[in-house]
This record gives sequence, C-alpha cells and structure tokens, in this order.
Amino acid sequence: MKKVRNSTMKSVLTPGEVAKRSGVAVSALHFYEQKGLIASSRNEGNQRRYGRDVLRRVAIIKVAQRIGIPLGTVAESLRDVPVGKRISEKEWATLTAHWREELDKRIATLARLRNDLDGCIGCGCLSMRDCPLRNPGDKLAEQGTGAILLAPPETEEGK
Ligand code: FES
Repeated sequence: MKKVRNSTMKSVLTPGEVAKRSGVAVSALHFYEQKGLIASSRNEGNQRRYGRDVLRRVAIIKVAQRIGIPLGTVAESLRDVPVGKRISEKEWATLTAHWREELDKRIATLARLRNDLDGCIGCGCLSMRDCPLRNPGDKLAEQGTGAILLAPPETEEGK
C-alpha cells in the first residue's frame, strides 16, 4: 500500500513534539537553544515553536555528542548554516571533515597518554623527574636545573 503524505504537516513544532521525535528532553532543547545550537520563535501565546529543520539540527548535535565533539565546536560548525535552512551535502562534508580532524587529534593524544601510562604500570614512583604523566613533556627541564617549586604558593586571595 502506498503511503499518503500528510498534507496537513505542521510547519512548526512544539518543544514536546521535537522532544518526542528527536529523543531529546525538552530541557536539553532549551540548553541547546541557550548555547546557540538551535533557535525557536514564539507564538501569540508566547510559547516556543521550532521550525521543522530543528529535527535535523538536533540529529547533528546527537551525532556530534556520540563521537565526543564538544558542543562549542558543534555551535561553531553550525554557525554558518542559517536556522531554517537544511544543511547541504557540501556543508555536511565540511563539518564532518573538521570533526574527523578533531577526533584524530584526540586519538593521538590518548595514544600518547596510554603509552606514557604503560611506563607507569607497576612503577608508582610518581617522580617529577622521571614520570611522564607527572611531568608531561619534561616541562620542568625547560626551567633549568636546581630546586623547583612544584606548585605556586597559596595566597589568602587564592583560598
Ligand atoms: S609512576 Fe613511575 S614513571 Fe610514572
């Protein structure tokens, strides 16, 4: 049987409808809006209404979150896509290529940390001189030899 498209499809959605269709809580929608990731308008009763494009935006946000892309980065990526406009294939390609670069950087950092941790397994020295996790990249060596202040002294203002 052929499906008939609903000709009375609403052009705007309530927060509850968006939440139900996207699987995101209404509070999350408000949070996304606060962060500039999505936008709403108000009806005569001052109630929030979302354009249908919000569903795709929320899907993009969910995908980004799933792969660990910070919301700030997502907001930056979506900044050039006007609200109400469906993201194009080209825009999606640019956005995902950027996210992939972010992931690659993070994977490289995690691999480095894992390798550093390998050297600590069974050691426990936590030496400022020898432990790569305690003194990443031997930063203290850049400060020269001799006595080293491990942490800045606490001040009354800093407490
Ligand atoms: S705990 Fe000894 S090298 Fe890290």
